[in-house]
Amino acid sequence: MKLWSGRFDKNTDALVDELNASIGFDFRMYRQDIEGSLAHSAMLAKQGIIPKKDAELIADGLKEILKDIEDGKLSFGSDVEDVHMAIEGELTRRIGDAGKRLHTARSRNDQVAVDIRLYLKQEISEIRLLVLGLLETVLNLSEKSTDVIMPAYTHLQRAQPTTFAHYMMAYANMLRRDVTRLEDCLARMDECPLGSGALTATTYPIDREYVARELGFSRITQNSLDGVSDRDFAIELMNDLSILMMHLSRFSEEIILWCSWEFKFVELDDAYSTGSSIMPQKKNPDIAELVRGKTGRVYGDLITLLTVMKALPLAYNKDMQEDKEPVFDAIDTVKKCLPVFDAMLNTMRLNPQNMREAAGRGFINATDCADYLVKKGMPFRDAYTIVGRLVNHCIEAGKTLETLEIEEYRSLSPVFEPDVYDAISLDACVAARGVAGGPSKESVKAQISYIREFLEERNK
Ligand code: ARG
Repeated sequence: MKLWSGRFDKNTDALVDELNASIGFDFRMYRQDIEGSLAHSAMLAKQGIIPKKDAELIADGLKEILKDIEDGKLSFGSDVEDVHMAIEGELTRRIGDAGKRLHTARSRNDQVAVDIRLYLKQEISEIRLLVLGLLETVLNLSEKSTDVIMPAYTHLQRAQPTTFAHYMMAYANMLRRDVTRLEDCLARMDECPLGSGALTATTYPIDREYVARELGFSRITQNSLDGVSDRDFAIELMNDLSILMMHLSRFSEEIILWCSWEFKFVELDDAYSTGSSIMPQKKNPDIAELVRGKTGRVYGDLITLLTVMKALPLAYNKDMQEDKEPVFDAIDTVKKCLPVFDAMLNTMRLNPQNMREAAGRGFINATDCADYLVKKGMPFRDAYTIVGRLVNHCIEAGKTLETLEIEEYRSLSPVFEPDVYDAISLDACVAARGVAGGPSKESVKAQISYIREFLEERNK
């Protein structure tokens, strides 16, 4: 018998039950559902809406149910519809009439709205810690590689020299923003909708502030229609997770490239790579590829809920039950990816020699060569043209800017002197980029301290 069966003459069709039931995916919110009910019934008793004795029976009953679920002694079939009905039904079975008072001044609409916020708040905190852990790993990689020169690319063409540390700090900053995005999301979500009722609150003299405080919310939602029909917080979280995954996916793509024989800038640990069933020589970066692949899945989750919500009139509509699977999937996916990505980075070995060799090819010091002329008084555009011709000459002669004779330099401009070789050495090119944000050792160290401080503020 359904808890709402009063106005119905027949039972629902079995196919309806199957479509309607959300217990298969919302049961994971059982703890939040029980917490919400405990706060609600305590408030009802405090306000004199239900007898204190009943509230005590309700509290004891709910705590027992929680214990039985956690001990694996209690589970539910799809006939109970959802986690809310399951627990309320079970409570009434156990304690009788007192259980029937629990749902006074409450609807499943504000109940589910509070449950999911409680659940997501917890998950955000966990994901935030995982991102902070990854950020620490990236920072450690940076600290170890401030002297490791590598080429930086635009259009995937070698462009200018940098260091591996500087490269890593780019990702560190992405992750720093991801952390703050999660924090912002959590702060905005931190409102208690309980008391919104089905949609227009209730006639009972409830104390919403009390319930919010009991449940650890910073404040209450401001409008009951909005309180039950808002899913912005879930969309916002999936947006933040999508951006986070986009960062991990770009990072993965680089690692995949760097593992290839064409680059060989890094080597993944055996524990974080896989082999081929046919090609004995293969060592594949499957973890990075999976993270890249799963990014699509998280984007899909975001688009799913945006699409579900796009034309819903106020207030609650059953469509909104479709919020849970995507948001849970996005969370599960991110929580699966972050630790293994972190461990993969933590165990990754660098190949500084190959990075430097790659930096030595591709004329990535051409800008510095032009800047050399500029520093001797030549307008940048003229210097640019001369160095372009020099590079052309190098390509024809099979040389690099470093191996060109001084006469060859001077045949294109008499401004060149032997000190040009110092000016275009890769180490000099990097060291000269001491501008804030640049790759020089001092500059990267400043970038590292900035993020270290960011981490310390959060470890307090
Ligand atoms: N299982 C439902 C959900 O997840 C609970 C709310 C049901 N409310 C209702 N009016 N049918 O959205």
